[in-house]
Amino acid sequence: MKLDVLLGLQWGDEGKGKIVDYLAPKYNMVARFQGGPNAGHTLEFDGFKHVLHQIPSGIFRENIENVIGNGVVLDPVVLKREILALDKFQLDLTKNFFVSKKAALILPTHKLLDAAYENAKGDLKIGSTLKGIGPTYQDKIGRMGLRVGDILSDKFKDRYHSIKEQHLSILAYYKHDTSLLDEMEGEFYAALDFLKQFNLVDSEYQVNEALKSGKTVLAEGAQGSLLDIDFGSYPFVTSSNTMAAGACTGLGVAPANIGEVFGIFKAYCTRVGSGPFPTELSDEVGEMMRKEGREFGATTGRPRRCGWIDLPALKYVITINGVTQLFMMKADVLNIFKEIKACVAYKLSDGSVTDKLSFETLYEDIEPIYEVLPGWNCSLDNISDFNKLPQELTNYVSYLEKHLEVPIKIVSIGPDRTQTIIR
Ligand code: GDP
Ligand code: IMO
Ligand code: MG
Repeated sequence: MKLDVLLGLQWGDEGKGKIVDYLAPKYNMVARFQGGPNAGHTLEFDGFKHVLHQIPSGIFRENIENVIGNGVVLDPVVLKREILALDKFQLDLTKNFFVSKKAALILPTHKLLDAAYENAKGDLKIGSTLKGIGPTYQDKIGRMGLRVGDILSDKFKDRYHSIKEQHLSILAYYKHDTSLLDEMEGEFYAALDFLKQFNLVDSEYQVNEALKSGKTVLAEGAQGSLLDIDFGSYPFVTSSNTMAAGACTGLGVAPANIGEVFGIFKAYCTRVGSGPFPTELSDEVGEMMRKEGREFGATTGRPRRCGWIDLPALKYVITINGVTQLFMMKADVLNIFKEIKACVAYKLSDGSVTDKLSFETLYEDIEPIYEVLPGWNCSLDNISDFNKLPQELTNYVSYLEKHLEVPIKIVSIGPDRTQTIIR
């Protein structure tokens, strides 16, 4: 079998958790391949609402293996908290949960460094979730990080102390407060002991053996393609490759073994944190979207910036990811509008028009050029058949397909598992 990959195509929070949970029964394994506790993936079913940060969103489904791959940066403290929060569901994570020994470890000082670097940036703050993501990937690439498998070694403490000393010298340079470090370290060591009871594995073998034996595996992306370290709105991005290629390096799966690439997007657009957002609405329309879509971060609680859909950006990420199917989320949030806008191109400061996300468009003040479509302006409650959706909504779907040249196979009309329409 080939590895299917599910990716957010915007700036994250597209609804990946909901859809992975929905699709999971079709798979034998769900695997995270990048990012870490900066992610917040929300699942709703049977009256429960649950947010996962590092645990794959297949965890609530029976008989599915859930894997944290080598490309992830793992915070054991957050993981312990996440696992304990699952107590009420009576899942046995010692059986269906696996962590790559090659995943990078987020250390307490990585979180302090994240805050120190952000504070030093002044007006150029990225709006990081401050979970230690950037500094941990920095140490991984700098070849000085610790990995999950290292916690089993006698030399772990020595190596930890030597890295900590280096971090402390940087923190001293930034005059950053380290008074909480002792407490953080206590929690960190307790969480490492807790982590040892779970399956720490060479997940590249596990994933490839599963595929070879005919099992189905879904890779669950975190963040979104516009936050990709290479192709996103740099420097206002996260520190990993959030695109399809990230699933190859983050799980150890060869490019030829990638199957479907599911691209998921909101029927509009949101962004949390700083950085360019051409279609952002700073007016009451944006406020209505935020209210209707409950657009507040699942990890940080911050209000998400809202705006109309950006087709040039979607076309760009569909190309770099090789998206084969699109899933449109949160269509119901647009129920309140009589008219819907879609950005089809950008006007640059010299008056020229483009539909490309060139290097320059990222740094210039660009003006979106919109097409206006009629809204459906009615409730979608209790609709479960694509053909029963209002005509204006199916027209919107066809309009997007024409521009994006990829079929839209799922339309999501609410946060619950059941509010999912397959086409
Ligand atoms: P993720 O990071 O991509 O998993 O997305 P988040 O969980 O951060 O944010 C998506 C939010 O939208 C969550 O609160 C979901 O419960 C909610 N959601 C998902 N799909 C839909 C939908 O179709 N309609 C509405 N109204 N909410 C949705
Ligand atoms: P999910 O998986 C939305 C954003 C942060 C910030 C930038 C860098 O839930 O879609 P980082 O903590 O990675 O250094 O932050 O990226 N960001 C996200 N925005 N959803 C996410 O994850 C995000 N993860 C990071 O807000 O702008
Ligand atoms: Mg999220």
